[in-house]
Amino acid sequence: MKEIIDELEQRRANARLGGGQKRIDAQHKRGKLTARERIELLLDEGSFEEFDMYVEHRCTDFGMEDQKFPGDGVVTGWGTINGRVVYLFAKDFTVFGGSLSRTHAEKINKVQDMALRNRAPIIGVFDAGGARIQEGVDALGGYGEVFWRNVQASGVIPQISIIMGPCAGGDVYSPAITDFIFMVRDTSYMFVTGPDVVKTVTNEEVSAEELGGASIHTTKSSIADGAYENDVETLLQIRRLMDFLPSSNISGVPELPTRDKPDRVENSLDTLIPDNPNQPYDIKELIQKVADERDFFEIQENYAKNIVTGFGRMEGRTVGFLANQPMVLAGVLDSDASRKGARFVRFCDCFSIPIITFVDVPGFLPGTAQEYGGLIKHGAKLLYAYSEATVPKVTVITRKAYGGAYDVMASKHIRADINYAWPSAEIAVMGPKGAAEILYRSELGDKKKIANRVKDYEDRFANPFIAAERGYIDEVILPRNTRMRVARALNMLRTKKTENPWKKHGNMPL
Ligand code: HXC
Repeated sequence: MKEIIDELEQRRANARLGGGQKRIDAQHKRGKLTARERIELLLDEGSFEEFDMYVEHRCTDFGMEDQKFPGDGVVTGWGTINGRVVYLFAKDFTVFGGSLSRTHAEKINKVQDMALRNRAPIIGVFDAGGARIQEGVDALGGYGEVFWRNVQASGVIPQISIIMGPCAGGDVYSPAITDFIFMVRDTSYMFVTGPDVVKTVTNEEVSAEELGGASIHTTKSSIADGAYENDVETLLQIRRLMDFLPSSNISGVPELPTRDKPDRVENSLDTLIPDNPNQPYDIKELIQKVADERDFFEIQENYAKNIVTGFGRMEGRTVGFLANQPMVLAGVLDSDASRKGARFVRFCDCFSIPIITFVDVPGFLPGTAQEYGGLIKHGAKLLYAYSEATVPKVTVITRKAYGGAYDVMASKHIRADINYAWPSAEIAVMGPKGAAEILYRSELGDKKKIANRVKDYEDRFANPFIAAERGYIDEVILPRNTRMRVARALNMLRTKKTENPWKKHGNMPL
């Protein structure tokens, strides 16, 4: 028996070496951890159960029959994060650059199927060169099987992708279908075709970082939802994120114990809004002062900063926060902000996460750049997402809620459940100055007259009471009591049940 056990240990040790010590050293030299080291950091200590450690590829072309590595370039299995089950696969760059063969794909498919069947999240750790070039169509078929499963699982279980090395070809399409993508700064890249192919096809010279580094995907393309300094920080932040996420669309949100009282009064919020209506303030201060223990996990922090999205908790239960940010472009809605907001609202709705919306929006951004870029359709995405969402929706208007943006930002008319306004709210078709200049165009030459008209408009509309008189606002609340009022509303809405009419699926303005 001892020999048999020794042989097992030997096989395991061999598999754990992946592509060999030399390649592991090269991985470390680049500032990257190996697949197994990453898994160890991501999961609770000792919780990892590995599958298919001895699987080898079946390719016989290009001398591949002589190059076999147990595990075939991907480590798969399940474990726990703070006690909750997650499935995962981590590409092993030391074996054929983590490239995907037919058998490698079958290993990923197995954990994808198990995650879906058992309704638990799946995390993919990517560090890979795309399709295994020696395998041809078998590798392409393997990718197709991964993609199809990604789509089946979408909206049923959370799917998270962590990009921790160069990722090309098929290794970017699977992440693109998942819910969130996180990257590591300076060591991870995502592109459909790398710099060499770009140079050949378009004659464009571009570095890997400029083409698909974290700096591009978190600010310009919006492909990535966040980026961190190194492997360790990234994995620790993903552990933090997973604590906010439900296990599936039927599990309900996780509940963490908290000492933060729901009726905590925040006197400082009474002076958050500056006296001058054109002066900005930081909406994140409001989010943090409302959320349990000021804990806020921001999504897409560096993209379309005029809207803020992310997760927090109220009374220990996960909520999604979505807020206009007056500090950036006065919080205006443009195409990028609308798309960012819509995607976040849809994630929350898939997984029954209540949405809290803070509104301070001067409208949609005018101009040819926006119109040519499809602002109408992008803006409609946010409108569609909010209208379709059946989760509890609580809205607080802190200052401006002008024009179409008033409707879009979770207004009563598109079925938000509770709509509050601070006394500083201004709910109108447009800002007083713009309104007066259109209504009284003939008086434009007379500055004094126009100033009086602006003042008239301000007096009439720059407040929440006309909307409150019509029941569009349920109550005008004291800023200092916002946490308490929102917490009470969410408590009341716990039993909310509403359904949209049956349909195969809607036709969102994509
Ligand atoms: C087989 C591969 C491989 C691949 C890398 N390797 N990519 N083996 N198939 N796709 C191997 C290398 O031969 C090398 O083996 C080891 O992995 C490390 O690769 P290096 O090139 O030395 O590393 P690095 O310089 O860091 O460059 C990494 C890289 C580059 C940027 C990923 O390897 C690369 O460009 N690879 C090809 C990417 C690509 O075009 N893939 C196909 C995409 S098409 P040794 O033995 O030396 O360690 C695709 C189709 C699917 O994916 C589409 C579905 C929609």
